[in-house]
Amino acid sequence: MAIRKIRELGDEVLNAKCREVSKMTAHTGELIDDMFETMYNEGGVGLAAPQVGVLKRIAVIDVTGEDPYVLINPVIVKTDGEQTGWEGCLSVPNKTGIVTRPNHVVVKALNRDMEEYTVEGTELLARALCHEIDHLDGVMYTTLVEGELKDLRAMDDDEDDEEEDE
Ligand code: NI
Repeated sequence: MAIRKIRELGDEVLNAKCREVSKMTAHTGELIDDMFETMYNEGGVGLAAPQVGVLKRIAVIDVTGEDPYVLINPVIVKTDGEQTGWEGCLSVPNKTGIVTRPNHVVVKALNRDMEEYTVEGTELLARALCHEIDHLDGVMYTTLVEGELKDLRAMDDDEDDEEEDE
């Protein structure tokens, strides 16, 4: 496994639409392992393949540190409710902004054995699922922010308590 370089806002790879994955290969398995290692190393809760420069529909999420999901070709099949809160992204370091997302989402995806499964999330997991799937379509959360993008280094501790990077 290896830590990969995270692409940052302004890199055009982050605005591209990713291709579906048709089969699991050793190369793709290594990519998934590296994405987890890179995400944990940066203290993030999610990472999408384009963030490490690969235009494949693959994302990894772990919002608790003990509940990892591999999402291949993920599709949102149901959304309910609404949550408005701070969001961040490992590709936009030291920034955060307010984004409104569904509070409950149901996603169908393939696992790393290319078997279909369903993941259902509320609150932070729902937010992470939406954020990562947006990455696969080249959509950055910065385009969804209500108001100004804020610099975390200029915010006090109370305000950045709930911010997570995805
Ligand atoms: Ni992100």
